[in-house]
Amino acid sequence: MKHVPIVVLDFGSQYTQLIARKLRESGIYCEIVPYNEPIESIKEKEPKGLILSGGPASVYDSGAYHPDNEIFNLEIPILGICYGMQLITQHFGGVVIPSDNHEYGKAKIKFEEECHLFDDTQNNQTVWMSHADRVDMLPEGFIKIASSDNSPYAAIANTSRNIYALQFHPEVHHSEFGTTILNNFANKICGCEASWNMGSFAKEQIAKIKEKVGDKKVLCGVSGGVDSSVVAALLHEAIGDQLIPVFVDHGLLRTNEKEQVEDMFKNRLHANLITVDAKEKFLEKLKGVTDPEQKRKIIGETFISVFETEAKKFDDISFLAQGTLYTDVIESVSVKGPSKTIKSHHNVGGLPDWMSFELIEPLREIFKDEVRKLGLELDLPLDMINRHPFPGPGLAIRIMGEVNEDDLALLRKADSIMIDELKSNGYYDKVWQAFCVLLNVKSVGVMGDNRTYDNTVCVRMVESVDGMTATFAHIPHELLDSISNRIINEVDGINRVVYDITSKPPGTIEWE
Ligand code: XMP
Repeated sequence: MKHVPIVVLDFGSQYTQLIARKLRESGIYCEIVPYNEPIESIKEKEPKGLILSGGPASVYDSGAYHPDNEIFNLEIPILGICYGMQLITQHFGGVVIPSDNHEYGKAKIKFEEECHLFDDTQNNQTVWMSHADRVDMLPEGFIKIASSDNSPYAAIANTSRNIYALQFHPEVHHSEFGTTILNNFANKICGCEASWNMGSFAKEQIAKIKEKVGDKKVLCGVSGGVDSSVVAALLHEAIGDQLIPVFVDHGLLRTNEKEQVEDMFKNRLHANLITVDAKEKFLEKLKGVTDPEQKRKIIGETFISVFETEAKKFDDISFLAQGTLYTDVIESVSVKGPSKTIKSHHNVGGLPDWMSFELIEPLREIFKDEVRKLGLELDLPLDMINRHPFPGPGLAIRIMGEVNEDDLALLRKADSIMIDELKSNGYYDKVWQAFCVLLNVKSVGVMGDNRTYDNTVCVRMVESVDGMTATFAHIPHELLDSISNRIINEVDGINRVVYDITSKPPGTIEWE
């Protein structure tokens, strides 16, 4: 078991994963575990400190999440954030009440006592609040170290027991000195060293893969995107020719995608790529299916069934490697804590029970932008590292309603025009992801004095860092104009183009 300097207990906050990444940015490795992780498993990680995340519940709710109380006897520093603060207060005998003034958004905090948590930060700093309940009476032995207008106890501490708690969220971008505060906790209070970086992450993962795989073979599903390519590169370093990279053409790819992926793997990464033509199989299974979750589940299952068939052609393949990211995990299932299922990403929530592979998922704890840094570390080609994300279920989740060959052909044409316009105008690298969606909507138009009644394409372009949150991209109207004109003029069957101006949240990036 690897030593984990900081363990984060997840009580379901949408920001929990940001705690981990802020610490990693400061060079400190940490792992997120569910709020009810057994104490023995926490002890095995030999942490130097614990962080209790925020969460949507109230500590007084009947079903409120409570950790194993033994965590308070581990005699290591603890930092509670928002819900975590309220748990600490309740546990040590203080009082938490619903606040008259809910605080959402920016607030200023004033220092009340000196504390290492605030070293190298300024008094009256801006923090991000998001809470309904608040501490009303401190437990014995605790002091107030900062306050805000609406939170008399914006930060509290029991320095003799090394327990600290914040009403605000230091992990969000809008908390001015949030990274410094988290770093102070890990570094100055817990004594963690800043020794973690992408290079050490790569080494750790390569060692883990070697140990797990031994002399067996690993089938690695690749798509040409950065995630699966990084996984393949890590595996190649770890086990060389025991790696069997497999690219499944499920018929839901974009124009020339298969050729591009084959070229990348064969000619630039010099890997023996196996391409499987499974177009008919996928399209047959998707016939008549309109529900987004059902589409995702069918695609996830069919991928596994294709991989199982391929694996039988070799001796001793018992592992399947995938480029699963934290974003896929957090949205698909409540694996790390009590967060809600948003959609079943094909490589997580879409996996069938009957799968016989053991999974290897070295990127399961990290985010897209971190994967790109890892790709640089592994010397992958830049155009592969900077490719926009493309979801495993492909165009199936970009066609609203039933998927069929005709609609796939329409969408492919529209999408390749849009990407071509972005590239030729220098905007491809300026947006995080861009794609077209074929809506299940027909509308009336007029072209060349004739009435048309045709399909609508929606152009979706987003700015993001990690895919967890996103805003629609503010690209020039002239560019939207040329995309719209070209799609309507060049794609027979489309007479209307719209632009999606929804952020995430409340939307998600993909439409299904
Ligand atoms: P959403 O739509 O959940 O997308 O906001 C976040 C990011 O994840 C990609 N995505 C997927 N990637 N398998 C994948 O490999 C999936 O099932 C899947 N669903 C969404 C999406 O394109 C975006 O970049």
